[in-house]
Amino acid sequence: MKTKIHACLIIWVGILVFSESVLANEPIEPIIPATEINPAQVELGKKLFFDPRLSKSGSISCNSCHNLSMGGTDNLKTSIGHNRQQGPINVPTVLNSSLNIFQFWDGRAADLKELAGDPVANPGEMALTHALAVSVLASIPEYVSEFSKAFDSGDIDIDQVTTAIAEFEKTLMTPNSRFDQWLAGSKQAISEQELAGYKLFKSSGCVACHNGKAVGGNSFQKMGVVEPYQTKNQAQGLVNLTGKESDRFRFKVPTLRNIELTYPYFHDGEAATLSEAVDIMGRLQLGKQFTVEEIAKIVAFLKTLTGDQPSFLLPVLPPSTDKTPQPKLFEN
Ligand code: HEC
Ligand code: HEC
Repeated sequence: MKTKIHACLIIWVGILVFSESVLANEPIEPIIPATEINPAQVELGKKLFFDPRLSKSGSISCNSCHNLSMGGTDNLKTSIGHNRQQGPINVPTVLNSSLNIFQFWDGRAADLKELAGDPVANPGEMALTHALAVSVLASIPEYVSEFSKAFDSGDIDIDQVTTAIAEFEKTLMTPNSRFDQWLAGSKQAISEQELAGYKLFKSSGCVACHNGKAVGGNSFQKMGVVEPYQTKNQAQGLVNLTGKESDRFRFKVPTLRNIELTYPYFHDGEAATLSEAVDIMGRLQLGKQFTVEEIAKIVAFLKTLTGDQPSFLLPVLPPSTDKTPQPKLFEN
Protein backbone atom coordinates (compact mmCIF):
# COMPACT_ATOMS: atom_id res chain seq x y z
CA MET A 1 0.00 0.00 0.00
CA LYS A 2 2.77 2.36 1.04
CA THR A 3 4.81 1.71 -2.10
CA LYS A 4 1.67 2.13 -4.18
CA ILE A 5 1.13 5.61 -2.72
CA HIS A 6 4.78 6.31 -3.23
CA ALA A 7 4.68 5.33 -6.89
CA CYS A 8 1.52 7.38 -7.34
CA LEU A 9 3.23 10.39 -5.83
CA ILE A 10 6.22 10.06 -8.14
CA ILE A 11 3.96 9.78 -11.18
CA TRP A 12 1.90 12.70 -9.93
CA VAL A 13 4.96 14.93 -9.43
CA GLY A 14 6.21 13.73 -12.81
CA ILE A 15 2.95 14.79 -14.46
CA LEU A 16 3.11 18.16 -12.71
CA VAL A 17 6.64 18.83 -13.94
CA PHE A 18 5.68 17.61 -17.38
CA SER A 19 2.60 19.82 -17.59
CA GLU A 20 4.61 22.84 -16.41
CA SER A 21 7.07 22.34 -19.23
CA VAL A 22 4.26 21.89 -21.73
CA LEU A 23 2.68 25.12 -20.49
CA ALA A 24 5.59 27.08 -21.86
CA ASN A 25 5.02 25.56 -25.25
CA GLU A 26 1.29 25.33 -25.94
CA PRO A 27 -0.12 23.84 -29.15
CA ILE A 28 -2.35 26.92 -29.50
CA GLU A 29 -0.80 30.31 -30.22
CA PRO A 30 -2.34 33.75 -29.70
CA ILE A 31 -3.99 35.70 -32.50
CA ILE A 32 -1.95 38.68 -33.62
CA PRO A 33 -3.73 41.59 -35.36
CA ALA A 34 -2.66 42.27 -38.95
CA THR A 35 0.04 44.92 -39.15
CA GLU A 36 1.16 45.14 -42.75
CA ILE A 37 -1.93 46.42 -44.46
CA ASN A 38 -2.69 49.04 -47.09
CA PRO A 39 -5.17 51.45 -45.41
CA ALA A 40 -6.67 52.84 -48.64
CA GLN A 41 -7.32 49.33 -49.95
CA VAL A 42 -8.78 48.27 -46.60
CA GLU A 43 -11.29 51.16 -46.61
CA LEU A 44 -12.27 50.39 -50.19
CA GLY A 45 -12.47 46.65 -49.52
CA LYS A 46 -14.72 47.33 -46.53
CA LYS A 47 -17.20 49.15 -48.77
CA LEU A 48 -17.09 46.37 -51.36
CA PHE A 49 -17.66 43.76 -48.63
CA PHE A 50 -20.89 45.52 -47.66
CA ASP A 51 -22.02 46.47 -51.19
CA PRO A 52 -24.97 44.39 -52.45
CA ARG A 53 -24.54 45.88 -55.92
CA LEU A 54 -21.82 43.28 -56.43
CA SER A 55 -24.70 40.79 -56.81
CA LYS A 56 -27.04 40.40 -59.76
CA SER A 57 -30.10 41.01 -57.59
CA GLY A 58 -28.55 44.05 -55.94
CA SER A 59 -29.52 42.46 -52.64
CA ILE A 60 -26.68 40.17 -51.55
CA SER A 61 -23.35 41.37 -50.19
CA CYS A 62 -20.48 39.38 -48.72
CA ASN A 63 -21.87 40.49 -45.36
CA SER A 64 -25.23 38.80 -46.12
CA CYS A 65 -23.62 35.40 -45.63
CA HIS A 66 -20.52 36.43 -43.65
CA ASN A 67 -22.36 38.70 -41.25
CA LEU A 68 -19.75 40.54 -39.18
CA SER A 69 -22.34 41.09 -36.46
CA MET A 70 -22.66 37.30 -36.12
CA GLY A 71 -19.12 35.99 -36.06
CA GLY A 72 -18.66 36.31 -39.85
CA THR A 73 -21.31 33.69 -40.66
CA ASP A 74 -25.07 33.55 -41.31
CA ASN A 75 -25.84 31.02 -38.55
CA LEU A 76 -27.81 28.95 -41.07
CA LYS A 77 -27.27 25.28 -41.93
CA THR A 78 -26.46 26.30 -45.49
CA SER A 79 -26.70 29.81 -46.86
CA ILE A 80 -29.29 31.43 -49.11
CA GLY A 81 -27.94 32.85 -52.37
CA HIS A 82 -29.25 34.36 -55.61
CA ASN A 83 -32.97 33.68 -56.24
CA ARG A 84 -33.13 32.39 -52.67
CA GLN A 85 -31.32 29.23 -53.73
CA GLN A 86 -30.23 27.07 -50.86
CA GLY A 87 -26.45 26.77 -50.82
CA PRO A 88 -24.67 23.41 -50.80
CA ILE A 89 -22.53 23.87 -47.72
CA ASN A 90 -22.25 25.63 -44.34
CA VAL A 91 -20.65 29.07 -44.37
CA PRO A 92 -17.21 29.20 -42.77
CA THR A 93 -16.37 32.39 -40.90
CA VAL A 94 -14.36 35.16 -42.55
CA LEU A 95 -12.88 36.04 -39.14
CA ASN A 96 -9.17 35.18 -39.00
CA SER A 97 -9.52 33.55 -42.43
CA SER A 98 -6.15 34.94 -43.54
CA LEU A 99 -4.64 32.28 -41.23
CA ASN A 100 -6.08 29.41 -43.31
CA ILE A 101 -3.57 27.51 -45.45
CA PHE A 102 -6.23 27.27 -48.14
CA GLN A 103 -9.72 28.69 -48.46
CA PHE A 104 -13.03 26.78 -48.68
CA TRP A 105 -13.89 23.46 -47.08
CA ASP A 106 -12.07 21.63 -49.85
CA GLY A 107 -9.26 24.16 -50.19
CA ARG A 108 -10.03 25.00 -53.80
CA ALA A 109 -8.87 28.62 -53.44
CA ALA A 110 -5.26 29.25 -52.49
CA ASP A 111 -5.79 32.59 -50.75
CA LEU A 112 -8.31 35.30 -49.94
CA LYS A 113 -7.68 37.21 -53.15
CA GLU A 114 -8.21 34.16 -55.35
CA LEU A 115 -11.36 33.43 -53.40
CA ALA A 116 -12.93 36.88 -53.44
CA GLY A 117 -13.85 36.72 -57.14
CA ASP A 118 -15.61 33.39 -56.73
CA PRO A 119 -18.73 34.35 -54.72
CA VAL A 120 -19.42 37.36 -56.95
CA ALA A 121 -19.68 35.22 -60.10
CA ASN A 122 -20.99 32.03 -58.42
CA PRO A 123 -24.53 31.56 -59.83
CA GLY A 124 -25.71 30.23 -56.46
CA GLU A 125 -24.26 33.13 -54.49
CA MET A 126 -24.08 36.65 -55.96
CA ALA A 127 -24.49 35.62 -59.62
CA LEU A 128 -22.91 38.70 -61.19
CA THR A 129 -20.31 38.37 -63.95
CA HIS A 130 -16.98 39.98 -63.21
CA ALA A 131 -17.42 42.27 -66.23
CA LEU A 132 -20.77 43.47 -64.90
CA ALA A 133 -19.37 43.94 -61.39
CA VAL A 134 -16.66 46.15 -62.82
CA SER A 135 -19.12 48.17 -64.91
CA VAL A 136 -21.33 48.75 -61.87
CA LEU A 137 -18.36 50.12 -59.91
CA ALA A 138 -17.07 52.14 -62.86
CA SER A 139 -20.47 53.88 -63.15
CA ILE A 140 -20.09 55.37 -59.66
CA PRO A 141 -17.66 58.34 -59.57
CA GLU A 142 -16.81 58.00 -55.86
CA TYR A 143 -15.74 54.41 -56.44
CA VAL A 144 -13.68 55.43 -59.48
CA SER A 145 -11.75 57.98 -57.46
CA GLU A 146 -11.34 55.65 -54.50
CA PHE A 147 -9.99 52.89 -56.74
CA SER A 148 -7.50 55.24 -58.34
CA LYS A 149 -6.32 56.35 -54.89
CA ALA A 150 -5.92 52.76 -53.68
CA PHE A 151 -4.27 51.48 -56.87
CA ASP A 152 -1.85 53.26 -59.15
CA SER A 153 -3.13 51.82 -62.39
CA GLY A 154 -5.94 53.37 -64.43
CA ASP A 155 -9.23 51.55 -64.94
CA ILE A 156 -11.00 49.46 -62.33
CA ASP A 157 -10.55 45.75 -62.95
CA ILE A 158 -11.59 42.61 -61.10
CA ASP A 159 -8.06 42.11 -59.82
CA GLN A 160 -8.28 45.40 -57.94
CA VAL A 161 -11.71 44.46 -56.59
CA THR A 162 -10.48 41.14 -55.19
CA THR A 163 -7.24 42.68 -53.88
CA ALA A 164 -9.15 45.34 -51.93
CA ILE A 165 -11.62 42.84 -50.47
CA ALA A 166 -8.77 40.50 -49.46
CA GLU A 167 -6.93 43.42 -47.84
CA PHE A 168 -10.03 44.26 -45.80
CA GLU A 169 -10.43 40.60 -44.81
CA LYS A 170 -6.88 40.60 -43.45
CA THR A 171 -8.05 43.08 -40.80
CA LEU A 172 -10.81 40.75 -39.58
CA MET A 173 -8.69 39.28 -36.80
CA THR A 174 -10.05 38.61 -33.33
CA PRO A 175 -7.22 39.04 -30.80
CA ASN A 176 -7.46 39.25 -27.02
CA SER A 177 -9.75 36.29 -26.31
CA ARG A 178 -9.73 35.20 -22.69
CA PHE A 179 -7.75 32.15 -23.75
CA ASP A 180 -5.11 34.33 -25.41
CA GLN A 181 -4.90 36.42 -22.23
CA TRP A 182 -4.29 33.17 -20.37
CA LEU A 183 -1.59 32.19 -22.89
CA ALA A 184 0.04 35.56 -22.29
CA GLY A 185 0.34 34.72 -18.60
CA SER A 186 -2.87 36.07 -17.07
CA LYS A 187 -3.83 32.94 -15.14
CA GLN A 188 -7.08 34.46 -13.85
CA ALA A 189 -8.41 35.01 -17.36
CA ILE A 190 -10.03 31.57 -17.50
CA SER A 191 -11.88 29.60 -14.83
CA GLU A 192 -10.93 26.21 -13.39
CA GLN A 193 -13.68 24.55 -15.41
CA GLU A 194 -12.38 26.17 -18.61
CA LEU A 195 -8.79 25.18 -17.84
CA ALA A 196 -9.92 21.62 -17.15
CA GLY A 197 -11.64 21.70 -20.55
CA TYR A 198 -8.44 22.84 -22.23
CA LYS A 199 -6.46 20.05 -20.56
CA LEU A 200 -9.03 17.52 -21.75
CA PHE A 201 -8.92 19.05 -25.23
CA LYS A 202 -5.17 18.43 -25.26
CA SER A 203 -5.07 15.04 -23.57
CA SER A 204 -7.90 13.60 -25.68
CA GLY A 205 -6.07 14.44 -28.90
CA CYS A 206 -8.22 17.26 -30.31
CA VAL A 207 -5.03 19.33 -30.69
CA ALA A 208 -3.68 16.88 -33.27
CA CYS A 209 -5.94 18.61 -35.79
CA HIS A 210 -7.05 21.81 -34.04
CA ASN A 211 -3.86 23.72 -33.22
CA GLY A 212 -1.86 26.83 -34.09
CA LYS A 213 -3.15 30.40 -34.07
CA ALA A 214 -6.53 29.56 -35.58
CA VAL A 215 -6.97 26.29 -33.61
CA GLY A 216 -7.51 24.70 -37.03
CA GLY A 217 -7.36 25.94 -40.60
CA ASN A 218 -3.92 24.46 -41.23
CA SER A 219 -4.57 20.93 -42.48
CA PHE A 220 -7.04 18.72 -44.29
CA GLN A 221 -8.36 15.81 -42.28
CA LYS A 222 -10.86 13.07 -42.75
CA MET A 223 -14.28 13.64 -41.21
CA GLY A 224 -14.96 10.31 -39.52
CA VAL A 225 -11.56 8.81 -38.73
CA VAL A 226 -12.77 6.11 -36.34
CA GLU A 227 -16.43 5.93 -37.35
CA PRO A 228 -17.92 7.15 -40.65
CA TYR A 229 -19.91 10.39 -40.62
CA GLN A 230 -23.49 10.00 -41.84
CA THR A 231 -24.84 12.91 -43.87
CA LYS A 232 -27.17 13.60 -46.78
CA ASN A 233 -24.93 16.50 -47.87
CA GLN A 234 -23.30 15.95 -51.27
CA ALA A 235 -19.92 17.56 -50.46
CA GLN A 236 -17.01 15.16 -50.78
CA GLY A 237 -14.07 17.36 -49.75
CA LEU A 238 -10.52 17.40 -51.05
CA VAL A 239 -11.16 14.58 -53.56
CA ASN A 240 -12.81 17.27 -55.73
CA LEU A 241 -9.39 18.76 -56.33
CA THR A 242 -7.06 15.80 -56.25
CA GLY A 243 -9.26 13.01 -57.63
CA LYS A 244 -7.61 10.75 -55.05
CA GLU A 245 -9.94 8.30 -53.35
CA SER A 246 -8.02 8.73 -50.07
CA ASP A 247 -9.04 12.40 -50.09
CA ARG A 248 -12.75 11.62 -50.10
CA PHE A 249 -14.35 13.27 -47.06
CA ARG A 250 -11.19 15.10 -46.16
CA PHE A 251 -12.06 18.70 -45.32
CA LYS A 252 -10.08 21.68 -44.20
CA VAL A 253 -10.10 21.53 -40.40
CA PRO A 254 -12.26 24.50 -39.37
CA THR A 255 -10.90 27.17 -37.04
CA LEU A 256 -12.28 26.94 -33.50
CA ARG A 257 -11.71 30.66 -32.89
CA ASN A 258 -15.08 32.34 -32.10
CA ILE A 259 -16.74 28.93 -32.36
CA GLU A 260 -19.37 30.02 -29.84
CA LEU A 261 -20.65 32.50 -32.47
CA THR A 262 -20.43 30.41 -35.62
CA TYR A 263 -23.12 27.75 -35.10
CA PRO A 264 -24.43 25.51 -36.59
CA TYR A 265 -21.44 23.22 -37.06
CA PHE A 266 -19.79 20.93 -39.63
CA HIS A 267 -19.76 21.31 -43.40
CA ASP A 268 -23.41 20.29 -43.56
CA GLY A 269 -24.42 22.49 -40.61
CA GLU A 270 -26.15 19.49 -39.02
CA ALA A 271 -24.78 19.93 -35.48
CA ALA A 272 -26.92 22.65 -33.94
CA THR A 273 -25.01 23.03 -30.68
CA LEU A 274 -21.41 23.02 -29.57
CA SER A 275 -22.09 20.15 -27.17
CA GLU A 276 -23.37 18.05 -30.06
CA ALA A 277 -20.32 18.92 -32.20
CA VAL A 278 -17.89 18.01 -29.38
CA ASP A 279 -19.69 14.72 -28.70
CA ILE A 280 -19.51 13.79 -32.41
CA MET A 281 -15.84 14.81 -32.70
CA GLY A 282 -14.97 12.66 -29.66
CA ARG A 283 -16.66 9.57 -31.07
CA LEU A 284 -15.90 9.92 -34.79
CA GLN A 285 -12.38 11.36 -34.70
CA LEU A 286 -10.98 9.85 -31.52
CA GLY A 287 -13.16 6.89 -30.59
CA LYS A 288 -13.96 8.53 -27.24
CA GLN A 289 -17.38 8.70 -25.63
CA PHE A 290 -17.21 11.80 -23.44
CA THR A 291 -19.44 12.09 -20.38
CA VAL A 292 -21.86 15.02 -20.09
CA GLU A 293 -19.43 16.66 -17.61
CA GLU A 294 -16.47 16.24 -19.95
CA ILE A 295 -18.40 17.75 -22.84
CA ALA A 296 -19.40 20.70 -20.62
CA LYS A 297 -15.74 21.29 -19.75
CA ILE A 298 -14.57 21.24 -23.36
CA VAL A 299 -17.44 23.51 -24.41
CA ALA A 300 -16.54 25.91 -21.59
CA PHE A 301 -12.94 25.98 -22.87
CA LEU A 302 -14.05 26.51 -26.48
CA LYS A 303 -16.07 29.56 -25.42
CA THR A 304 -12.88 31.21 -24.12
CA LEU A 305 -11.70 31.38 -27.76
CA THR A 306 -14.08 34.23 -28.58
CA GLY A 307 -11.91 37.28 -29.26
CA ASP A 308 -12.50 40.99 -29.80
CA GLN A 309 -14.84 41.24 -32.79
CA PRO A 310 -14.00 43.64 -35.64
CA SER A 311 -15.31 47.06 -34.77
CA PHE A 312 -15.65 50.00 -37.14
CA LEU A 313 -18.19 52.49 -38.43
CA LEU A 314 -20.56 50.98 -40.98
CA PRO A 315 -19.31 52.17 -44.35
CA VAL A 316 -21.59 54.58 -46.21
CA LEU A 317 -21.79 53.39 -49.82
CA PRO A 318 -21.71 55.90 -52.68
CA PRO A 319 -25.07 56.08 -54.52
CA SER A 320 -25.66 54.58 -57.96
CA THR A 321 -25.92 56.90 -60.96
CA ASP A 322 -28.10 56.97 -64.08
CA LYS A 323 -25.42 54.89 -65.79
CA THR A 324 -25.33 52.11 -63.18
CA PRO A 325 -26.68 48.81 -64.58
CA GLN A 326 -29.99 47.96 -62.90
CA PRO A 327 -30.23 45.00 -60.53
CA LYS A 328 -32.22 41.99 -61.72
CA LEU A 329 -33.98 40.63 -58.70
CA PHE A 330 -35.50 37.34 -59.87
CA GLU A 331 -33.65 36.22 -62.92
CA ASN A 332 -31.28 33.37 -63.57
C1 HEC B 1 -24.66 33.33 -50.63
C2 HEC B 1 -23.76 33.29 -49.49
C3 HEC B 1 -22.36 33.80 -49.65
C4 HEC B 1 -21.95 35.04 -50.12
C5 HEC B 1 -22.82 36.15 -50.67
C6 HEC B 1 -20.51 35.07 -49.97
N1 HEC B 1 -20.06 33.90 -49.43
FE1 HEC B 1 -18.15 33.50 -48.88
N2 HEC B 1 -18.68 31.60 -48.52
C7 HEC B 1 -19.95 31.09 -48.60
C8 HEC B 1 -19.90 29.64 -48.47
C9 HEC B 1 -21.09 28.70 -48.50
C10 HEC B 1 -18.54 29.31 -48.33
C11 HEC B 1 -17.95 27.91 -48.24
C12 HEC B 1 -17.88 27.36 -49.65
C13 HEC B 1 -17.08 26.09 -49.75
O1 HEC B 1 -16.22 25.84 -48.92
O2 HEC B 1 -17.30 25.35 -50.70
C14 HEC B 1 -17.81 30.57 -48.33
C15 HEC B 1 -16.43 30.67 -48.13
C16 HEC B 1 -15.77 31.88 -48.01
C17 HEC B 1 -14.43 32.03 -47.50
C18 HEC B 1 -13.50 30.90 -47.07
C19 HEC B 1 -13.40 30.75 -45.61
C20 HEC B 1 -12.74 29.46 -45.26
O3 HEC B 1 -12.49 29.23 -44.07
O4 HEC B 1 -12.46 28.63 -46.12
C21 HEC B 1 -14.12 33.37 -47.57
C22 HEC B 1 -12.83 34.03 -47.16
C23 HEC B 1 -15.28 34.03 -48.13
N3 HEC B 1 -16.26 33.10 -48.37
C24 HEC B 1 -15.34 35.37 -48.44
C25 HEC B 1 -16.41 35.95 -49.14
C26 HEC B 1 -16.38 37.27 -49.76
C27 HEC B 1 -15.20 38.22 -49.75
C28 HEC B 1 -17.60 37.47 -50.30
C29 HEC B 1 -18.08 38.67 -51.11
C30 HEC B 1 -17.34 38.95 -52.33
C31 HEC B 1 -18.39 36.29 -50.02
N4 HEC B 1 -17.62 35.37 -49.35
C32 HEC B 1 -19.73 36.13 -50.35
C33 HEC B 1 -21.12 31.81 -48.74
C34 HEC B 1 -21.15 33.11 -49.24
C1 HEC C 1 -8.45 13.92 -37.06
C2 HEC C 1 -8.58 15.36 -36.97
C3 HEC C 1 -9.53 15.94 -35.94
C4 HEC C 1 -9.56 15.69 -34.59
C5 HEC C 1 -8.70 14.74 -33.78
C6 HEC C 1 -10.61 16.54 -34.06
N1 HEC C 1 -11.18 17.28 -35.05
FE1 HEC C 1 -12.65 18.64 -34.82
N2 HEC C 1 -12.80 18.79 -36.83
C7 HEC C 1 -12.01 18.13 -37.76
C8 HEC C 1 -12.57 18.30 -39.07
C9 HEC C 1 -12.01 17.74 -40.37
C10 HEC C 1 -13.74 19.07 -38.91
C11 HEC C 1 -14.73 19.46 -40.01
C12 HEC C 1 -15.63 18.27 -40.24
C13 HEC C 1 -16.81 18.55 -41.14
O1 HEC C 1 -17.35 19.65 -41.11
O2 HEC C 1 -17.22 17.65 -41.85
C14 HEC C 1 -13.83 19.38 -37.49
C15 HEC C 1 -14.84 20.15 -36.92
C16 HEC C 1 -14.92 20.48 -35.58
C17 HEC C 1 -15.89 21.38 -35.01
C18 HEC C 1 -16.94 22.16 -35.79
C19 HEC C 1 -16.33 23.40 -36.38
C20 HEC C 1 -17.23 24.15 -37.33
O3 HEC C 1 -17.02 25.36 -37.49
O4 HEC C 1 -18.11 23.56 -37.95
C21 HEC C 1 -15.67 21.43 -33.66
C22 HEC C 1 -16.42 22.24 -32.63
C23 HEC C 1 -14.57 20.53 -33.40
N3 HEC C 1 -14.13 19.99 -34.58
C24 HEC C 1 -14.06 20.27 -32.14
C25 HEC C 1 -13.20 19.20 -31.90
C26 HEC C 1 -12.92 18.68 -30.57
C27 HEC C 1 -13.48 19.23 -29.28
C28 HEC C 1 -12.08 17.63 -30.74
C29 HEC C 1 -11.57 16.66 -29.69
C30 HEC C 1 -12.62 15.96 -28.98
C31 HEC C 1 -11.82 17.50 -32.17
N4 HEC C 1 -12.53 18.46 -32.82
C32 HEC C 1 -10.97 16.57 -32.73
C33 HEC C 1 -10.87 17.42 -37.47
C34 HEC C 1 -10.56 16.92 -36.22
